[in-house]
Amino acid sequence: MEIKEINVSLVCDILNEIMEYELAGVVRYTHSSLMVSGPYRIPIVTFLKEQASESLKHAQQAGELIVGLDGHPSLKTAKIQETHRHSIKDILEEGLEHELTALSLYKKLLGSVTDASVYLEEYARTMIGEEEQHSLELKAMLKDFG
Ligand SMILES: [Fe+2]
Ligand SMILES: [Fe+2]
Repeated sequence: MEIKEINVSLVCDILNEIMEYELAGVVRYTHSSLMVSGPYRIPIVTFLKEQASESLKHAQQAGELIVGLDGHPSLKTAKIQETHRHSIKDILEEGLEHELTALSLYKKLLGSVTDASVYLEEYARTMIGEEEQHSLELKAMLKDFG
């Protein structure tokens, strides 16, 4: 296997993009969890709060890697659109869209670290696995709505 040189500034830029996106996820899921109404409120609020905590954990992990690479973690969050649509279906669809975008960011990271850093490659793959799992969960939750 050929070991490539890691492009630290590119990797830090992608990690910062991930960090900003995950921080936006904290805001999005917290907002969503407050907007749920109806008979299925309780399990969905629990799920959304878990996703908010998970996003914070993911943002912190990306931040730690940035610091480890001598980069500077961002103070910004990615832009979130307020759609003013708060039916459970809308909330879950927005969540799914969010997870798929997160997934694409981790895939972008994987592309920049493959064969250049075993640790970062493992990290990217693990995160891709987690975000895929979240997307599948959301897809399953959306099935009910036809
Ligand atoms: Fe995440
Ligand atoms: Fe996620």
